[in-house]
Amino acid sequence: MTQKILVTGGTGYIGSHTVVELQNAGYEVIVVDDLSNSSKDVLDNIETISGKRPAFEQFDLADAAKTDEFFVRNQDIAAIIHFAASKAVGESVQIPLHYYRNNLVSLMNILDCQRKYKIANLVFSSSCTVYGQPDKLPVTESTPRKDAESPYGNTKRVNEDILNDSIKAYPELKGIALRYFNPIGAHPSALIGELPLGVPQNLVPFITQTAAGLREGLSVFGDDYDTPDGSAIRDYINVVDLAKAHVVAIARLLENKNKASYEVFNLGTGNGYSVLEIVKGFEKATGVKLNYKIVPRRAGDIEKIWADTTYANEELGWKAEVGLEETLLSAWNWEKRVRGIQ
Ligand code: NAD
Ligand code: WQD
Repeated sequence: MTQKILVTGGTGYIGSHTVVELQNAGYEVIVVDDLSNSSKDVLDNIETISGKRPAFEQFDLADAAKTDEFFVRNQDIAAIIHFAASKAVGESVQIPLHYYRNNLVSLMNILDCQRKYKIANLVFSSSCTVYGQPDKLPVTESTPRKDAESPYGNTKRVNEDILNDSIKAYPELKGIALRYFNPIGAHPSALIGELPLGVPQNLVPFITQTAAGLREGLSVFGDDYDTPDGSAIRDYINVVDLAKAHVVAIARLLENKNKASYEVFNLGTGNGYSVLEIVKGFEKATGVKLNYKIVPRRAGDIEKIWADTTYANEELGWKAEVGLEETLLSAWNWEKRVRGIQ
């Protein structure tokens, strides 16, 4: 029988790519999203790519009554991937209570329903933000977590603890926290991708919007870091590669291949690239010249981080495959399609 997977936040950036990969792997998908940071049109594009339209329900998972009412009707869900969250770091400093309520309460509502309706398995979207600036690079899953720089980052750390503590207390639950490094790029079809509301805060959407003429120029935040070219280093991972890791994590839970009831994996490429290398890589991949200037560091930014992916590679049998330039080109093709650029 086809197994049914609930994808919360499934019309969002990473969620939509994961829905496609789950469908390609033969799972039936139901999406829950309140559309606070995405649009229903995404469902049409998912259907065009996969040939299958996921079931969809629009409501706020921080609403306990609505969440319960959903699970009453969907007790046949085999596993959940919980992407739904508010994710803008700067905004989380301005409206922390919204972030804590939305991100923490949603997870707790889901865990309550998992217990009540006997749904064992959860995959949770965590972030490399839990490591802060690590003392040693690359970071492994046992690198100590640090105090978060923002309320958003803190919600990831606390949610990991909520999940871990719940699994310890309630043996019927199992979970995997996936710590994403920097997801970038879009589906090769250019039908789904990242569509930030307002001015993009993240590097690659700012680059593609600059190339598309929506922004005058990119500000490179800092060239005085202790890195080879002075700009900050991150581990940028292709979003389709990232999506595929979720399919592996779901199979691991459903097939009881997990080694512990709560597991954590780093999802990155293992390679660090500087901001200036990303700019150059984008220009090389697309042939588009970028207008950019160096400006002072952005408050709260870390200097450098990249993942040790050994554990994910060996234990999940998953590896990031798409190269940086191909990924940057996919981001540009998506931006061009959205803006109607030939
Ligand atoms: P996104 O904003 O594109 O997707 C999240 C989706 O969740 C949106 O469609 C939004 O409408 C929905 N949502 C938010 N709150 C909700 C609620 N209370 N009820 C129902 N739906 C709700 O974000 P994304 O980039 O796809 O990120 C997905 C997950 O991965 C998030 O948990 C995010 O924190 C995490 N993450 C993202 C990154 C990144 O750089 N994009 C890095 C690390 C971790
Ligand atoms: C990457 C690099 C910037 C924009 C954030 C969150 C983190 C995670 C991923 C969810 C940095 C530089 C950026 C620009 C620039 N999200 N930059 N000019 O800061 O690594 O991580 O998103 O969990 O929690 O903090 O990603 O894309 O914002 O920045 O020079 O206009 O690009 O300074 O060095 P970041 P980013």
